[in-house]
This record gives sequence, structure tokens and C-alpha cells, in this order.
Amino acid sequence: MNEMVRKTQAAATDTSLDPQDWNAFRALAHRMLDETIDGIANIRARPVWQPIPDDVRAAFKADVPREASDLADVYREFAEHVAPYATGNVHPGFMGWVHGGGTAVGMLAEMLAAGLNANLGGRDHMPIEVERQIVDWMRRLFAFPESASGIFVTGTSMANLMAVLVARTSALGTPARQYGIGNDGALLTAYTSRAAHGCVSRAMDIAGLGTDALRKIDVDTDHRIDVAALRAQIAVDREVGFKPFLVVASAGTVDIGAIDDLKAIAELCREEGIWFHVDGAFGALAILAPELAPVLGGIELADSIALDFHKWGQVPYDAGFLLVRDGEQHRQAFAQPAAYLSREARGLAAGAVWPCDLGPDLSRGFRALKTWFTLKTFGTDRLGAVIARSCALAKYLEARVLAEPRLELLAPVNLNIVCFRYRADDAVNREIVADVQESGIAAPSGTTLDGKFAIRAAIVNHRTDETDIDALVAAILDFGARRVGDGVIEIEAPPLAAQ
Ligand SMILES: Cc1ncc(COP(=O)(O)O)c(C=O)c1O
Repeated sequence: MNEMVRKTQAAATDTSLDPQDWNAFRALAHRMLDETIDGIANIRARPVWQPIPDDVRAAFKADVPREASDLADVYREFAEHVAPYATGNVHPGFMGWVHGGGTAVGMLAEMLAAGLNANLGGRDHMPIEVERQIVDWMRRLFAFPESASGIFVTGTSMANLMAVLVARTSALGTPARQYGIGNDGALLTAYTSRAAHGCVSRAMDIAGLGTDALRKIDVDTDHRIDVAALRAQIAVDREVGFKPFLVVASAGTVDIGAIDDLKAIAELCREEGIWFHVDGAFGALAILAPELAPVLGGIELADSIALDFHKWGQVPYDAGFLLVRDGEQHRQAFAQPAAYLSREARGLAAGAVWPCDLGPDLSRGFRALKTWFTLKTFGTDRLGAVIARSCALAKYLEARVLAEPRLELLAPVNLNIVCFRYRADDAVNREIVADVQESGIAAPSGTTLDGKFAIRAAIVNHRTDETDIDALVAAILDFGARRVGDGVIEIEAPPLAAQ
């Protein structure tokens, strides 16, 4: 063998990061997989969440690890210091914010995707076809035309930002991408309700349009945007020379799950020539449940829809998604020529349009695979049944609250979110939420509705059942009574399951 080739091969063996002993690696990998599966299968034996002990937090202020460590030791550190102190949303008692529970199937798909290490920015390979398959399924579900396009993103915050950018380019034309938004851009105004998620306002900020250009319209008693007030505000703005360009409707408001009148907004936007975007972060997937789908009537008329598979879709984090009715307008907002990304008729550089033409990311992971596995393995009917069941559980919780004199319902229950409080002041209710979280029994979150602090339970996890709702109510009543009593309480967390 030529001396140079021999030296190069020797060096390659030294620098490769592959295991020296594949058999030992395989045995450890199987143990990791077994223990992870055990962790999910036995999730009820663990506290929902537990505070991070000081020494565990301190262990993560270590120096840069210049020397190698044994994989088994690194895994032990993960198993002892990271896994027990995760958010807890795998647990059926987790009802805070709007967190999905994930599935063991999605976990496996994540592992397979990591094995492929595919980059879905572009090029001609099957992982991109998997993403295109999901785009087509979403297009069909929401009755969008064949010319629609879609793309996976981190979450709805990003999808809403991208929708603002597509609507902005549609309003100002593509020159605005070169010259900036200019005087015309300074006159653009967008509209959403007071109940919309804060990321809509942030999107206006990041898009360079400014949060003041977002008009926050009043809501009715059911937290739905007041369409007459929306119409009036658009008229006032036009009158003084602004250029209304975008309405962001909510299909499931973050606080209470209210769904705006999508049909009426679609009609208004069509009359006014305004882009109609729907923030359907969690609510849009109610389309999978036949008994709920009618409440989304009008969503099929949207110009774009943002949604998260990682919420009600039960896909592991993260798996946000943007669907745009007019794929060409979508492409015009992001596509950019670059010599090193030239598209060819054949070979690996074929297959345009590439996902990097449809969003700000060039390198992108294979989020579509865990979504594809989830949709195919369970089928959309079963996922729809999970969604309908979480709404039924919310009704069960509402009934428990209404039947309990020490509790007070604070908002109508539209979908899967229940906002209520212990009959005491805000400070006590804030303490109760933290007490329940620290007890490990359940994890509700809090919000403020009409100036009152509310305990908020969003039922998203497919594992949640009546016993979890009962445990939440019992814990709130227990901690509430103790807080209102002497104010000094000991939180007892359930013991950790044997590792
Ligand atoms: C209505 C709504 N919009 C947007 C978001 C933000 O979504 P993400 O956290 O995936 O960015 C959420 C999150 O809960 C939401 O409920």
C-alpha cells in the first residue's frame, strides 16, 4: 500500500467519531432505548414535575469538556440529572400552557431521523418527499388548492412570523425585499383580537412593521373577535390613509380556546382585499375530529394557516407547520438565488422548489418523519378521537368546578381549556398553582382573565383521564384550604419511581 494512503487511513481511524467497539455501543444503545421506553410506559409512577435541586443545577456549570468521557458515564449523568427534571409534559397530569404529550412512536421516529441525519433544506431525496406528503395531507384536510405549499418550522410563533412576511411581500411586492418596506410599508396595518397570542405582535416587530401597526380588536364575552369592530377599525384606518394588509384570526385562543368567526372574517378579508391568516396553533387540528370540525368553518378560506403537530397532534417537539394557499406567493417571500444552491435538471441538485425557498432556514432537520409516523401509525381518525376526548375531559373538569362551591369558573369552556380559581384572592391562587406543581401531582398553569388570576388547565395529553382531573381538583382544594388556613404548608412530592 502506498505510504501516503496508509497514513491517511490510520489518521481517519483516529479521528472518526464512530464507536471503537460497535457491540458494546449496541448493548448500551439497547439499554438506553429500554430505559426510555420504561420511562414512558411507567410515567404515572413519577411526579409530573419536580424542582431542580441546587446540586443538579450546579453540575451544569462545568468547564468545557476537552477530554473524552465514557458514553455510559455521560448517559448516567443524563439519566440522573436531566431526565427526572424535564418539563413533565409526557405525564398525564401535565395540563399547563398547551403542551403535547408525545408518543413512543414519535420517539422512535426521532431516533430513525437522527440516524439518517438528513438535511431538508433542499436537494432531491426521499425525506423531502415525506415532508411534501404531509403538505399534501394538510392541503386536503383544509381543502386548499393543489397550488398550495407548506413547510415544517419550529412552532406556530415562527409560522405566524412567516405568514406576516408572506402577507407583507404580497402587499408591497417583491421589490420591498430588496429596498426595504419604505413609505408604503410604514402605512401597513394588521388586525387581530385582544385574545390573540403574543407571538402575533412579536411577528409584527420582527418583520419591521412595528407592534403599533397591529390593531388589537375587542372580543365578545366568548373571547371571539368582534367582527363589527374589526370592520369599523379597517374603515377608520383606510380613511386616514393606512393600508390594511392582514387579519390574523385565532382558531383556539391561548387563554380559553375561543375560535373566531372564521367565515365572517374570510368574507370581510375578501371584500377588503386583505390577507386572511389563521393562528390555529392547537385548534386547527380539531379538523381531525368530525364532531369538532364544524366549529372551524371558514378555515378553508384562509390565505394561510399556522399549526403545531407538537400540541394536539401528539408529535414530539418540535413540529410547527405553515400552510399557504398560493404556493407561488409563499415562494416569492423567501426564495433567493445563490450560485452554490443552483438547481439542476438531474442529480442530487434536482427537485426544485426546495424547502429553503419557502422559509428563512437553509439547514433543516427531518421533523416530517415523526409527523408521518404519527399520522400513519395511529391514523387521523384516532388522533381526532384523542382531540375530542380531551374536550370531553375539559367538560368533565368544568362540571367538577361548577359543582364545587369553593371553586369558580372564570371563562366558558370552548375546547380543551378550563380557567377557574379557588375562591380566594390572586395571591392565594398563584401560590396554589405553584403548590400543585411542586407536589408533583399535576401541573396546571396560570393566566389573567379580566384582571383576575386564573388557574388554567389545558388538556392536551392523550394519556390524561378522569382520574387525573380528579387528582388536580383534589390537590387544588387541599392546597387552597391550607393556604386560606394558616398559610404554612409542606409540599410532599410523590417518591420517584425506582430508576
Ligand atoms: C394560539 C397560539 N398561538 C401561538 C402559539 C405559539 O406556538 P409555539 O409555542 O409552537 O411557537 C401558541 C402556544 O401555545 C398558541 O396557543
